[in-house]
Amino acid sequence: MGISKRVKNINPSQTLAITAQALKMKQEGKKVISFAAGEPDFVTPENIREKAISAIGEGFTHYTTSSGIIELKEAILEKLKKDNKVEYKTSEIIVSTGAKQCLFNAILTICDPGDEVLLPTPCWVSYTEQIKFAGAVPIFINTNQEEGFKLSAVKVEEKITPRTKLLILNSPHNPTGAVYEHEELKKIAQLLLKYNIYCISDEIYEKLVYDNAKHLSIASLSEEIKDKVITINGVSKSYAMTGWRIGYAAGPEEIIKGMSKIQGHSTSNPNSIAQKASIEALTGQQDTIEEMKKAFDKRRKYMVKRLNNMEGIFCLVPAGAFYAFPNVSEILERGIEYNGKKISNSFDISDFILKEVEVALIPGSAFEAEGYLRLSYATSMEDIKEGLDRIENILRY
Ligand SMILES: Cc1ncc(COP(=O)(O)O)c(C=O)c1O
Repeated sequence: MGISKRVKNINPSQTLAITAQALKMKQEGKKVISFAAGEPDFVTPENIREKAISAIGEGFTHYTTSSGIIELKEAILEKLKKDNKVEYKTSEIIVSTGAKQCLFNAILTICDPGDEVLLPTPCWVSYTEQIKFAGAVPIFINTNQEEGFKLSAVKVEEKITPRTKLLILNSPHNPTGAVYEHEELKKIAQLLLKYNIYCISDEIYEKLVYDNAKHLSIASLSEEIKDKVITINGVSKSYAMTGWRIGYAAGPEEIIKGMSKIQGHSTSNPNSIAQKASIEALTGQQDTIEEMKKAFDKRRKYMVKRLNNMEGIFCLVPAGAFYAFPNVSEILERGIEYNGKKISNSFDISDFILKEVEVALIPGSAFEAEGYLRLSYATSMEDIKEGLDRIENILRY
């Protein structure tokens, strides 16, 4: 009796839980600074908001084709061709309620119970739970700071078994900010072809790359690899449109059809108004991306420098996304005492920081990476300064 094993087996999102706790503390009047959020602090650009208003005015408020309207699919095709150098037909595209739904549909379409899914760690929280939900088995491949948190072909090959069905790649990467380069992707692509393994390439942070880093889609490397890749992207992070819930996937027709079947019986079409707004996001003026990126870049440099100046903390410079991912294992080894208990892991330290100085951040354990913390710099410079001051003070010897 009671709820299903499938649901019992799934852990709630720690990121969402900490974000909600920080919000609750704010509502209680506490001066919480949140480095927890995974979304830009900018407002959706005006040209995009206006298109949504016109869609409402025109009464574009009914069901649409379940897998998304044709004009949006065409805008996505053009975008993929222009930015990512990979060509698709509209039958190879699906629009969903956020990239999260695309990932969910793709994993359910590809995986049977017992199939193994290769998942490089650190990894974004939802992949693991979505894989488990499908009855598949996440096979973690640890990457580390010394390797720039990037997967090597050798490490992937070691984990391949006859049950391996899928690899999940995420570049630019949440939480580490790692961005894969051409040679690295080429080697991984060769392995996928050799062992006939699918790849979900989550490119949601595509537009947020800094310094000399360049985003590259693994599907663009060859026609053969394109047949094994489901590219996932969306408007959430690039256009500050997290609340609109529009994501999309491009891949082999058979997989997209499977994903559409699931969507047709679960949520049906993504929001009609948000679909119209997303056409404007993809085809309208793109200046606001650059403005947002400039602001993130400034904050990124400031945050990483401050973190590296703190004793016992080491932070790699992230090449993409909007997170710093410092290593705090030295502090954990040092052994701070809190409420009569030694702080010995990343959850304890983030709880200590939240309760003592009201700064919310995410423990590395949420990303299968003990000894690290994730701090989002998608928040104002003023809050970044204040939040880091508070952390520095509390972690001082
Ligand atoms: C790596 C990664 N993929 C996908 C998503 C989900 O994006 P969306 O808001 O489009 O569902 C997120 C959001 O935090 C993310 O960090």
